[in-house]
Amino acid sequence: MNPNKMLAGQRVVIVGGTSGIGLATAHLAIAQGAKVVVASRKAERLKSAKAELGPNAEALRLDATNPKDAAAFFKKVGKFHHLTVLVPAADDPRVQKKLGPLAGMDLSAAHRVMENKFWTSVTCAQAALPYLARKGSITLCSGVSPRKALPGYWASTSAIAALEGLFRVLAVELAPIRVNCVGPGIIATPILTALPPRRLKAWDKLTKRQPVGRMGTAEEVAQAMVYCMTNGFTTGALIEIDGGYKFT
Ligand SMILES: NC(=O)c1ccc[n+]([C@@H]2O[C@H](COP(=O)([O-])OP(=O)(O)OC[C@H]3O[C@@H](n4cnc5c(N)ncnc54)[C@H](OP(=O)(O)O)[C@@H]3O)[C@@H](O)[C@H]2O)c1
Repeated sequence: MNPNKMLAGQRVVIVGGTSGIGLATAHLAIAQGAKVVVASRKAERLKSAKAELGPNAEALRLDATNPKDAAAFFKKVGKFHHLTVLVPAADDPRVQKKLGPLAGMDLSAAHRVMENKFWTSVTCAQAALPYLARKGSITLCSGVSPRKALPGYWASTSAIAALEGLFRVLAVELAPIRVNCVGPGIIATPILTALPPRRLKAWDKLTKRQPVGRMGTAEEVAQAMVYCMTNGFTTGALIEIDGGYKFT
C-alpha cells in the first residue's frame, strides 16, 4: 500500500462500473490506491471489466433497479468507503425510441427513465448505508439538461433534476458522510450506441458548437468522480464537467 496515493487503503464501489464513465472511474481509483468493486447486470461486461482492471478489482452482478438485489449485493460487499452510482437513464434502444415530446408519448418509457436514473441512486444509497464508512462519500451522476431545456427531453431532464434534489438533501441528512453529484455534458461512451441516429446527429452538432468544440471523454468525468471521493471538504457540490454545454 502506497500512503501517498489518495485512496490508499480504501474500498470504492462503482455501480455501473463496467463501462464508460464508471470503468474510467474504476481505473483512476485503482491508480490512486483503492480496491474497487464494479457492479452491473451483464456477465460479459463484468468479465471484461475484471480482466481489464486486474487484481485490485472485483466485479459483481447487480441490477440496481431491484432493491432486493441491491440489499444482497451490499451485504456481500461488506464495509467500504466510497459509493458511486452511474446507471444511465435509458441504455435500451427500445426505450430510447419511445422518448420524445410529451404529447402522445408512451409514458412507460418515462417511468423506466425515472427508475433507471433516479430510483437506482435512492436504492443503492439506502442499501449501502449500513456498510459505508462515516468518513466516506456518495457521488451521484446527473447531467446538464436541467440547465438548458431542450424540447423532447422532458423525461430524462426531470429524472436528473430529481437526482440533483436528492443529493443536496442527503448531503445534510447523511453527514458526516459526504454526498456530491457530478453532472456530465455529452460524453463519448458506449451509451451513444443506444441513441437513435437522429439524436446522435443532433448531439454531434451541439457539441461542435459548445466552447470546447467536442464531446467529453469518460476519463475527464472520472477525474471529478475521484475528486469527490478524495476531497474531505467537498459535500453538497454539483460539479459540472460539460465543456461549456450550457453556453451553447
Ligand atoms: N455519456 C453521456 O453523454 C452522459 C451524459 C450525462 C450523464 N451521463 C451519465 O453517466 C453515467 C454513466 O453513463 P455512461 O455514458 O458511462 O454509460 P455506459 O457506458 O453505458 O455505462 C453504463 C453502466 O451502467 C451499467 N448499468 C446499466 N443499467 C444497470 C442497472 N440496472 N444496474 C446496474 N448497472 C447497470 C452498465 O452495465 P450493464 O449493461 O452490464 O448493466 C454499464 O456498466 C450514467 O448515469 C449516465 O446517465 C452520461
